[in-house]
Amino acid sequence: MTKLPLLKIGRHTPKYPIIQGGMGVKISGARLAGSVALQGGVGTIASVGLACDHPDYSGWNYFDINEIAMAEAVKSSRTAAPDGVIAVNCMVALTDYDRQVRSAAAAGVDIIISGAGLPMKLPEYTRDFPDVALVPIVSSVKAADLIIRKWGKMYGRLPDAIVVETPLYAGGHIGATRMEHVTDDAFSLERVVPELVKYIEDTVKSDIPVVAAGGIWDVSDMRRAFGLGARGVQIGTRFACTEECDADMRFKQAYIDAGPEDVVVIMSPVGIPGRALRNPFVEKYISGEVESKPCIAACLSHCSYLKDRSTFCIAQALVDAYKGNWETGLFFAGSNVVKCSRLERVSEIFKELVGE
Ligand SMILES: Cc1cc2nc3c(=O)[nH]c(=O)nc-3n(C[C@H](O)[C@H](O)[C@H](O)COP(=O)(O)O)c2cc1C
Repeated sequence: MTKLPLLKIGRHTPKYPIIQGGMGVKISGARLAGSVALQGGVGTIASVGLACDHPDYSGWNYFDINEIAMAEAVKSSRTAAPDGVIAVNCMVALTDYDRQVRSAAAAGVDIIISGAGLPMKLPEYTRDFPDVALVPIVSSVKAADLIIRKWGKMYGRLPDAIVVETPLYAGGHIGATRMEHVTDDAFSLERVVPELVKYIEDTVKSDIPVVAAGGIWDVSDMRRAFGLGARGVQIGTRFACTEECDADMRFKQAYIDAGPEDVVVIMSPVGIPGRALRNPFVEKYISGEVESKPCIAACLSHCSYLKDRSTFCIAQALVDAYKGNWETGLFFAGSNVVKCSRLERVSEIFKELVGE
């Protein structure tokens, strides 16, 4: 691709305006993030459930080990890409959200990207680390406006970039709060990105870069996003089907095998829609048969499994997917999963996208 926008996120400017989206549990760990950062993109570690296969995790010390595992993951991705830009994705919906944010900042991460809820208090948790750039994920201008107003009033700072994630195509928790939003054009990148760019220019009178996420696969998708006014793209699904992705090969094989009929949107235990692969576990859930492993650690602020057992422990199901357990895992994936036909290397993807 000839001319790429410059994506400046606070004090950090990756060589290319490409962010690898945080994918939990451990789909984007230190290995994937380090590999992306080494190629010149922003490599993002998903903070959720990092404890799950840590040698010191006993089953009772989940939150403490999450914190330790976070510091180790940041260190290890930094070692892989000493000059690269490393981010951590922290979900607001997690009980240990503030601890995760603090430990990521203390571990020296460059950027914290935060969604699955509105990150209203994010600047408070990183107050002692002014170099850490803060990036909310939103799916509407209304959400961005709420964050900008609150941050301005309470902390005197603006987001360093804003990711717009469209529920129409993204994987995992897709930025929608209601099922109707998943197919609503009002949440398309075509609608939200230009509207947000205009709002930032005219109302906020600032230069906050907007990053487009959801359904980005190739150069033409990137061009389309940049044409809408985005200065970066965030890509999840394509990076999950790489050699460097931290998940088990059976997770990646499920991506390679998936066809259009295998992609579904379910109501997750968090109470928001999530896009995933249709496997035996999801089939049972859809048909009303709830099967769950026990609660891992009360890791969510709002969890319908913990409340009334009406769903399942999502952390356990995501850990199972990471380990490649097709029968019991929740395999999050974006609509682009149908384009995964083989395992790619991160360097190949960059070569194709940036033309070097
Ligand atoms: C397997 C998987 C897990 C994900 N986990 C998270 C997560 O932990 N936190 C988050 O904010 N977004 C998560 N996402 C969303 C991605 O970061 C990204 O924004 C989205 O997938 C972009 O759309 P794409 O997959 O079409 O490229 C996940 C996506 C996938 C596919």
